[in-house]
Amino acid sequence: MSNVPAFGIDLGTGNIKIYNNMDGSIMREKNMIAVKNKNTLLAYGDDAFDMYEKSPANIRTSFPLNNGVIADIKDMQTVLKCFVTDLTSRIKYNGADFYISVPKDITEVEKRAFFDLVSDANVKSKRIMIVDKAVADGLGLNIDVKTSQGVLVVNSGFDTTEISILSLGGIVLSKLIKIGGRKFDEAIKNAVRREYSLIIGGKTAENVKIELSDPNHDDTVDPVVYGRDIVTGLPVERQIPVDLIESALNENINSIIDNIKVILERTPPELAADIYRHGIYLTGGSAPLRNFGKLINKGTDLKVNLPDDPISTVAIGLSRVIKEDNFRSVAYAIDGMSPK
Ligand SMILES: Nc1ncnc2c1ncn2[C@@H]1O[C@H](COP(=O)(O)OP(=O)(O)OP(=O)(O)O)[C@@H](O)[C@H]1O
Ligand SMILES: [Mg+2]
Repeated sequence: MSNVPAFGIDLGTGNIKIYNNMDGSIMREKNMIAVKNKNTLLAYGDDAFDMYEKSPANIRTSFPLNNGVIADIKDMQTVLKCFVTDLTSRIKYNGADFYISVPKDITEVEKRAFFDLVSDANVKSKRIMIVDKAVADGLGLNIDVKTSQGVLVVNSGFDTTEISILSLGGIVLSKLIKIGGRKFDEAIKNAVRREYSLIIGGKTAENVKIELSDPNHDDTVDPVVYGRDIVTGLPVERQIPVDLIESALNENINSIIDNIKVILERTPPELAADIYRHGIYLTGGSAPLRNFGKLINKGTDLKVNLPDDPISTVAIGLSRVIKEDNFRSVAYAIDGMSPK
């Protein structure tokens, strides 16, 4: 508990996670908005996602972020304002400090947009601080990022996978690639369409993916999907072989592995010892994806560590920046800008 209210925000393309230091909680909701007749706010977060892929033409459901950067600042401000209002509805709210995690491998203009977002969202921001997402990830993994010399973190989310090498509190190398859960779902959809002339929705593909990623899944049972047959146009039910899903996922997993190898090749040799000793840390919501860790291990010969709650590690890291004085210094302000 603290007297200065502060929020730590991991603004993901698929999910927004907000650490609230007033009660120590981490909220997680879909980063989505539903708007009716162009300008009436209908729903936000998980409620908006419920309408996704099901809504009539006069309702627009959209993700305000795209590939890790802000695509629609007005929509994003609305969503942020709604969540902050919800989180502060029971207290007398006079403003808070905001700590936002941002990817490293984006332009300065894109980075400033995160600052402007909070500063213009009408959320009574007192201080707005930026934390590099990979540094927050490292802290959320309980790694002492300030003293470690060589930590390889792979954060695989919804639209992106960020591969970073951390050392002594900073980021030595980083690459943001446009592969994540959304691409995995699309690959499953495409394979089912190609092999069975069956069209399934994105949510169905995601459910199959998550079902098969459970380490306790019984692989003798093929998952069942519902969709529309292209030839007859009728709704049908079908079992999809586990092998088909596995091979559909492989291409994207292999691209990620190729990118990890490129980063490893560019890593200064002095950091290699720590990286070898620690192995790779796999975080983000897509970390548990079927065969993901196993194939990374095979492709790089490095051990792969999967935390218990990989979707939350960045937000947990932000909570440590807010709570522990020792880690305050990893947060920075954007020069020349101050909150309105
Ligand atoms: N058990 C699971 N196995 C595989 N994928 C999963 C699992 N649980 C969640 N996911 C996927 O994780 C993704 C969301 O992860 P996360 O919240 O880390 O992304 P994000 O932070 O919103 O996106 P980004 O970091 O790319 O901007 C979704 O695509 C979801 O399908
Ligand atoms: Mg993310």
